[in-house]
Amino acid sequence: MSFPKQRLRRMRQTENFRKLVRETQLSPDDFIYPLFAVHGKGIKKEIPSMPGNYQQSIDNIVKDAKETYSLGIPSVLLFGIPEHKDQLGSEAYAKKGIIQQAIKAIKDKIPELIVITDVCLCEYTSHGHCGVIKNGKILNDPTLQLLAKEAVSHAKAGADIVAPSDMMDGRVSAIRNALDKEGFIDTPIMSYAAKYASSFYGPFRDAAESTPKFGDRRTYQMDPANAREAIREVALDIEEGADIVMVKPALSYLDIIYRVKNEFNLPVAAYNVSGEFSIIKAGAKLGWIDEKRMMMEVLTSIKRAGADLILTYFAKEAAKILKV
Ligand code: PBG
Repeated sequence: MSFPKQRLRRMRQTENFRKLVRETQLSPDDFIYPLFAVHGKGIKKEIPSMPGNYQQSIDNIVKDAKETYSLGIPSVLLFGIPEHKDQLGSEAYAKKGIIQQAIKAIKDKIPELIVITDVCLCEYTSHGHCGVIKNGKILNDPTLQLLAKEAVSHAKAGADIVAPSDMMDGRVSAIRNALDKEGFIDTPIMSYAAKYASSFYGPFRDAAESTPKFGDRRTYQMDPANAREAIREVALDIEEGADIVMVKPALSYLDIIYRVKNEFNLPVAAYNVSGEFSIIKAGAKLGWIDEKRMMMEVLTSIKRAGADLILTYFAKEAAKILKV
């Protein structure tokens, strides 16, 4: 049967017609909202390239987390900016580190809110790389025990989920083993499984003060040209014990989200990263685009591609629109 019997415009006549046949529904339930914690009190410093996002001291982080939860968003992702950085990123696994304090404060005030922590060294190392360095090389295996130590210290502070973002080989099993050994058998791992060496992380590195001091991350993060390799990365992380697998960034990698969703039967997360956020904010500031419509279109496309969870700096703005 074809035209004129078939007319696809019939079901697009009004918003209510469109609602009836809409295939993808966004919900605040899908969102994870990233927050940046710094030492001090009363600090709320806007990140210039990420309008509406802040480096915040713990008192303000708790307020923001409360607001996030009240908008129906079930989860936040925490990043920490330490007081001191060193070769081995020791504040990453310090008992009184910034993240450890932030987790405790949030869980104390809003126990139901799921606190996810980014497990990585780059914010804490003086060289800004995600691993241990020797003679200018990023070493894989010696990094694993530090990541495992970091994940355990997050769990001890009360983290609900740990999210390794370093892209060292074998980190998921190192973290799973360490968590289990310490009794954290119920702490899930959300692995940044297919994480690409992307230009879209630029604004984040300003926010987290984690730009590498030499070289780049291309010896550990993935080559943007590769798709089949993403399937291998994800398969390995699942074998090693990942509970949720993430594709990052989202927009230039919708094909990867789609493939991962079709290939594996576990929750798929996608990170709508800083650069994807900032270009929309910048375009809106220039008056060139309709910010709200573009935000909702982008988030819908990530969900339509197959993401069950979306990490996004738009979480609060989108939740406000979805609530009405
Ligand atoms: C840390 C980390 C990064 C992001 C999340 N965790 C930066 C990087 O790998 O350089 C990027 C997040 C974003 O751009 O929004 N390894």
